[in-house]
Amino acid sequence: MSSGRARELQAQILSLVEEYVAEAFPAKPFVPGTTHVPVAGRHFDADEVKRLVEASLEFWLTHGHFADSFEDELGKWFGGRRCRLCNSGSSANLLALTALTSPLVGERRLVPGDEVVTVAAGFPTTVNPILQNGLVPVFVDVTLPAHCVDLAALEEAIGPRTRAIMIAHPLGNPFAVAEVAEIAKKRDLWLVEDCCDALGATYDGRAVGTFGDVATVSFYPAHHITMGEGGAVLSANTRVMRAVESLRDWGRDCYCAPGKDNTCGKRFAWQLGDLPYGYDHKYIYSHIGYNLKATDLQAAIGLAQLEKLPDFIAARRRNFHRLREGVKDLADIFEMPEATARSDPSWFGFPLLLRADAPFPREDLMRWLNEQNIGTRLLFGGNLLRQPAYVGIPHRVVGRLTNTDIVAERLFWLGVYPGLTEAMIDFVIERLHAFCRAPR
Ligand SMILES: Cc1ncc(COP(=O)(O)O)c(C=O)c1O
Repeated sequence: MSSGRARELQAQILSLVEEYVAEAFPAKPFVPGTTHVPVAGRHFDADEVKRLVEASLEFWLTHGHFADSFEDELGKWFGGRRCRLCNSGSSANLLALTALTSPLVGERRLVPGDEVVTVAAGFPTTVNPILQNGLVPVFVDVTLPAHCVDLAALEEAIGPRTRAIMIAHPLGNPFAVAEVAEIAKKRDLWLVEDCCDALGATYDGRAVGTFGDVATVSFYPAHHITMGEGGAVLSANTRVMRAVESLRDWGRDCYCAPGKDNTCGKRFAWQLGDLPYGYDHKYIYSHIGYNLKATDLQAAIGLAQLEKLPDFIAARRRNFHRLREGVKDLADIFEMPEATARSDPSWFGFPLLLRADAPFPREDLMRWLNEQNIGTRLLFGGNLLRQPAYVGIPHRVVGRLTNTDIVAERLFWLGVYPGLTEAMIDFVIERLHAFCRAPR
């Protein structure tokens, strides 16, 4: 910062921001039926807004020291893995899988036509990078009620062209990731863990995202921490991370931070491709890349959120258990959510699976909850293969996607995010009973 006076002004502005946040975002009383009970949302206080303003006043704008710190801090969460910030969880998935096609990863690089085993019950951008890279998704079913990948089907799906597994930990409940990592190791497959919905979940006491080769996270407002839009890729594999960084940053070979030159010490001494010797390394491209960088403004918010992550995860778990206790007597209507054995989920939502003989269709219940101002969501795309965008895609299905169809037809989820109060959750429980036990 330029001067003492500027520092003084900054302090004044930040103190005003604190006052502003207290005025602009007061805690509002909960009025059952009138106040919306969302499934998710930004959960923040003055800390996030102050960090954002601080970054705005610096006006660096692009990836800078806030982004560097965020990458360091999130890397620590993932057992010291390297971390690269990007502009969304979808971009993180695209970068993670595309990095595995890079010549930098050597012999094991994925090439068009190679197969990637995945599930169809979930979010589209876990699967889309497979198609976007000319690879072939192989879909296997999930088990119920955990709606996690079916291990036997996964093993059966591995054929001579299978090179990778890419699956999300659904709604914060880990799939049996140690077993999947073991299968991947045995069969020499890459494992990409989509942790977008599961930041902080553990399996065998170890963080999800640290079992596979690459992990991804999302910071969209519905997720455990937010920066508006944002995502990250994490891996212990330095070659993979070099490819991730290059693909994120236009495909460039140079890895200087924005505003920096000559990190490699030979900026004008490279000979790559058919370029003349000494061609400025800043403008040498070793990948067909994108620009998927996030800004320092996003990272500044993320840093404030990261400090609160342990509390956020604890609140999600608390809310989940309050809901679970409150609706357990409705087990004749719903299959209750179960944590995967040996896991401690970091719940994204509270899934309820309507039993086949339930006395009403799921849509009637969701419509009614919506009228009560209670938010609900589906498990995203349900069965992606039944979505219009996926008609005619190259793919294989191994076994039958029976449970995936059940997820598409009978599952929905309620919120557990830290912004929900006990009164809100109790209202949700009461309304669920009112609907389920109404005479019909
Ligand atoms: C499992 C999963 N992966 C990826 C994404 C994409 O994240 P983003 O919205 O940040 O692109 C989502 C979005 O919610 C998701 O649920």
